[in-house]
Amino acid sequence: MSLARLALPAIRLLDPETAHRVTIRALALGLGPRSQPARDPRLESTLFGLRFPTPVGLAAGFDKDAEAVSACRNLGFGFVEVGTLTPKPQSGNPKPRLFRLSDDRAVINRMGFNNGGAARAAERLARFDHADGLPPIGVNIGKNKDSEDAVADYEACAERLACFADYLTVNVSSPNTPGLRDLQTADWLAQIVNAVHAAAIRTNVAKPILVKVAPDLDEQGEEEVAAIAKHEAVSGIIVSNTTITRPDSLRSRQRGEAGGLSGAPLFRPSTDILKRLYQRTDGTVPLVGVGGIASAEDAYEKIRAGASLVQLYSALVYHGPDLVGVITNGLSELLKRDGFASVTEAVGVDCR
Ligand SMILES: Cc1cc2nc3c(=O)[nH]c(=O)nc-3n(C[C@H](O)[C@H](O)[C@H](O)COP(=O)(O)O)c2cc1C
Repeated sequence: MSLARLALPAIRLLDPETAHRVTIRALALGLGPRSQPARDPRLESTLFGLRFPTPVGLAAGFDKDAEAVSACRNLGFGFVEVGTLTPKPQSGNPKPRLFRLSDDRAVINRMGFNNGGAARAAERLARFDHADGLPPIGVNIGKNKDSEDAVADYEACAERLACFADYLTVNVSSPNTPGLRDLQTADWLAQIVNAVHAAAIRTNVAKPILVKVAPDLDEQGEEEVAAIAKHEAVSGIIVSNTTITRPDSLRSRQRGEAGGLSGAPLFRPSTDILKRLYQRTDGTVPLVGVGGIASAEDAYEKIRAGASLVQLYSALVYHGPDLVGVITNGLSELLKRDGFASVTEAVGVDCR
């Protein structure tokens, strides 16, 4: 059992946001565990020009300000996404704004893009090595709460951050910034993606652009997202962010808190929409499956439903960082058991 796993019960005695701050500080100070899952060529893939050592990544929101990127890479993730970053620093919503729903293995957050701003994160990101073979670093960008020009905000972030990112994620799906999810139309997305692409080109670095969507889209919304996936500057879709719905199955006292729900209850709805988007895009666009992954079986199900890569966050709260190695090694075994020579072969097999 690792030191991190031993510390987990003590960390859980703290309120969730303090626990998170302590974890990030410990990781930034180099106190995190090092767990490199056994390298398995089956798990490697190349997508939008990037080589991923494994398909298991850290989702946005854990290391918003890029304070602990090296430590997160050392946890054994195949890629790490920082952010969401906004052009100006902002403090986010009043506390408390992060809730553990322990009985449901879930989390509700209404953080509201608390972050130190793109410029400070750029300084930190400038230090990292992007050599081939290292886990790629994604940078997730958004808009300030008080901004009246959303497109200009995404553009400003891209201008600052593109040169330090292996890929950029356009986040239009957090439920805690008023109006953000209204940007999930083909029209808005085209404007944002064009502006982000142009900003990256201006800094001489065309970077892959992913779009992160909500699990709560209606049929029309799904169609619009599938349409934007065909945009030449869009390299992939991340499915999904947290949900504003509250399944009847929730038992925890905090289930009525406002914000986005993540963790186990999000697994089914986010996997269902992943499958539908895979079908709507005819499997032509790489999808990143996120939502409720807590085991190798969960990660494998996302892959079979159409995900080329997966990400997780909430399960780390309950299982600690050892989970990354458990999922990665378990995924290797599942691919081997079912006779797949590579993870790529397994992508979308349940949709065919
Ligand atoms: C506390 C918290 C903060 C988050 N912040 C962000 C964020 O800033 N940007 C973003 O795109 N997603 C954010 N997310 C959503 C996650 O990246 C992920 O999409 C979602 O939690 C579903 O995955 P999970 O069930 O494995 O947690 C956040 C999630 C949590 C729990």
